[in-house]
Amino acid sequence: MSTGQSSPDKLTTVRIVRKKAKAERIVCLTAYDFPTALILDNAGVDLILVGDSAANVIYGMPTTLTIGMDEMVYHTRAVAAGVKRAFIVADMPFLSYQVSVEQAVANAGRFLQAGAEAVKVEGAGPVVPAIKRLVELGIPVMGHLGLTPQSVHKLGGYRLQARKLEDQERLLTDARALADAGCFSIVLEKVPAEVAERVTGELPIPTIGIGAGPHCDGQVLVLHDMLGLFDTPPLKFVKQYAHLHADILKAVTAYAEEVRTGKFPDEDRTFHLDK
Ligand code: KIV
Repeated sequence: MSTGQSSPDKLTTVRIVRKKAKAERIVCLTAYDFPTALILDNAGVDLILVGDSAANVIYGMPTTLTIGMDEMVYHTRAVAAGVKRAFIVADMPFLSYQVSVEQAVANAGRFLQAGAEAVKVEGAGPVVPAIKRLVELGIPVMGHLGLTPQSVHKLGGYRLQARKLEDQERLLTDARALADAGCFSIVLEKVPAEVAERVTGELPIPTIGIGAGPHCDGQVLVLHDMLGLFDTPPLKFVKQYAHLHADILKAVTAYAEEVRTGKFPDEDRTFHLDK
């Protein structure tokens, strides 16, 4: 019987946690499809998150509450097909892990069957029993604290979190609870850098920051944001490393012009009958 061979430098939860001890920064980006997953893997990205931000950047929805398991599994399968080295985390969508521990297990299982190697859940408190059970069953879990977009209506918008001392203490307590429950890492979203630094310093597992300053053990951005795929000003914490909206607009406009003027297809791109 032959077994599947992965890349010798394949990222695992053990290697990711070890990066914290070695003070090696963890590079994380989101992906939702095969070609971008292939590019991210070739670029040496450590962690690829199939984020429920797909609701925003793929489906054009205002919140992440609108995406469900079927779409997320579909994107996870496409991403997994393009990855050899990176560690793949699938985001558990709204209501896929909050209703019962049994549902959380069944849904996380679907992600692993689709090629994910871990799942991400938002929050602490009521979801800790599900996290413990998943870890117990051998399913690695990434936590997510600070701004948790699935709670946007409770939070009153996408605001900076943990500004007050009492919220900072609760964040730290929640982060410890997630580490104790067995999470291998925690995303910290949109919190002051000083708070993220404190949490990072107190936890045995890596923190992955987004809008959480430079002191986290790793950083994550939404791919479409950092590639400048939209024609809107980036959020404060996003750096655009490309301007794909402008590049694609230029390419498509050139194509349209050449089709309309008969310049495309040219002779080099045309088949003929044999003479
Ligand atoms: O869904 C997502 O892309 C995320 C990241 C912002 C961490 O949760």
